[in-house]
Amino acid sequence: MPRSCQYLLTSGLAVTSILFGAFSPALAEGAAEPSATALIEALITRREPVGGPFDLVDHTGGRRTDADFRGKLVVIYFGYTHCPDVCPTELQAISLALDELGMAADRVQPLFITVDPERDTPSVLADYVSSFHARLVALTGPAPAIQKVALAYRVFFAKSAVAGPDGYAVDHTGFIYLVGKDGRYIDFLPPGLAPERIVEALRLHLDRQTSP
Ligand code: NI
Repeated sequence: MPRSCQYLLTSGLAVTSILFGAFSPALAEGAAEPSATALIEALITRREPVGGPFDLVDHTGGRRTDADFRGKLVVIYFGYTHCPDVCPTELQAISLALDELGMAADRVQPLFITVDPERDTPSVLADYVSSFHARLVALTGPAPAIQKVALAYRVFFAKSAVAGPDGYAVDHTGFIYLVGKDGRYIDFLPPGLAPERIVEALRLHLDRQTSP
């Protein structure tokens, strides 16, 4: 598995061993506190609130905040366009899941938030999202704004010391986040889910969101 996109499985005891295997602190350049371990533990244990407001720029260059997506079940994936395999695979799975949902997909808003704002400008993102679902919105912004939203969602990311085929790589966690139509974080989905499993999760939450 390329270092650029190593991520964590969330099943049972595998978590800890994969965690330390995937994110060798000695290899991570400029890794900021908190550590990947602390972030993932916070996510899994729900010890701290997850999610929150953001103020970013979309792939058309327009300003977008979290408030723009109220009323939709929001599906957020953090990654970067130079990611060789995992990010495209996850975005493809999300796109297929939305296709499978049919009309109900209108009530879902997929978002891709870059963890590589240095290279992922709006125009780069515009080109990238065209490969995926027509309603996918990609977001970038100043590095501090990206750091803030990543931290809010307990996303670990750090430039890798190991260069990828296309310049530097970025290690990052690869969970899919679900946010309710009221803007509140609902849950995360583990990386590597088949599109059918993503559809199941989306249907479940869409049903819950419409329940009285
Ligand atoms: Ni990736």
